[in-house]
Amino acid sequence: MTQGFSFDLHATDGKARTGVIRTPRGEIRTPAFMPVGTAGTVKAMLPESVRETGADIILGNTYHLMLRPTAELIDRMGGLHRFMNWHGPILTDSGGFQVMSLAELRKLTERGVTFRSHIDGSRHELTPERSMEIQRLLGSDIVMAFDECPALPADRTRIAESMRLSMRWAQRSRDAFGDRPGHALFGIQQGGLERDLREESAEALKAIGFDGYAVGGLAVGEGQEAMFATLDFAPDMLPVDKPRYLMGVGKPDDIVGAVKRGIDMMDCVLPSRSGRTGQVFTRHGVLNIKNARHREDPRPLDESCTCPACRGYSRAYLHHVFRANEIISAMLLTWHNLHYFQELMAGMRAAIAEGRFAAWEAEFHARRALGDI
Ligand code: GUN
Ligand code: ZN
Repeated sequence: MTQGFSFDLHATDGKARTGVIRTPRGEIRTPAFMPVGTAGTVKAMLPESVRETGADIILGNTYHLMLRPTAELIDRMGGLHRFMNWHGPILTDSGGFQVMSLAELRKLTERGVTFRSHIDGSRHELTPERSMEIQRLLGSDIVMAFDECPALPADRTRIAESMRLSMRWAQRSRDAFGDRPGHALFGIQQGGLERDLREESAEALKAIGFDGYAVGGLAVGEGQEAMFATLDFAPDMLPVDKPRYLMGVGKPDDIVGAVKRGIDMMDCVLPSRSGRTGQVFTRHGVLNIKNARHREDPRPLDESCTCPACRGYSRAYLHHVFRANEIISAMLLTWHNLHYFQELMAGMRAAIAEGRFAAWEAEFHARRALGDI
């Protein structure tokens, strides 16, 4: 295990786990939800506000930052933490996944991937070695191995070949990362929905040795039922004493189902992106603030929520500023959504610690089933 980085499991309840990851930049309480700060900002939020919602760690993106303003510039400005004024831990994704979904004219080879920027069409290359270099220049606390994955459904041959390529890249990522006290490197399991491919991937990663293990290649079009079916076995293949991170998930019920199956960390743009499109997450389910039924509603989004949007503003006001395209709309709705996601995680952590996760989960679903929002 890397010096200065550790994971302590405090309690388990069924397969659900709670604990703490320690890094030189601070502690991460697990299960943890990581807000997404793709381009050096969690959109519409000051970093201190992100912290106030209860976040211990945020996610940044190699792909976006290498294109603009470049990793070299961020390094010259003192690293990503100082550049964006977030001084807690940062996990950075490695770029391959974003290239495959965002970039143009992609070319995948054994060496890596070449592509054209979605911003200005300029040509770039990402390899495991270059991804490790960029994540080092950014000053990332948790670095992700460089990987690749097909959208689902994809045929088994394609999934197997892609997984094996990602495992060779995982070894090259490990070699290029080297030994960096205080900085962790996570491997990423691939293999689609297939048990034997997930097993092969887990064995390959464990043989290399990482500080944590991600489950990748899910939430890419397979649907919740298939994702849960895979999560019924995939996390169990990873070491019990290392953090397990489910990448790019998800909706509140996806998150609860993932934690129930042994996942410790997650990230998703959903709470922040939805804050800008008017979709609001509450304990009772989802509401859309642009809906006319909120036009003269004096109530807050959620009576029991303690976030600034709920303490100070009515649905009528939030409806108005959303319709009027006012900036404060994105600020307040994003804050509320991030606060809700963090409360969800805190609720699960407490329930697992006290051995009442099943009851907590039943109540989570029951309240949503009433649909009373
Ligand atoms: N984000 C969501 N899924 C993935 C994945 O499989 N790999 C990487 N690197 N990032 C992801
Ligand atoms: Zn609120």
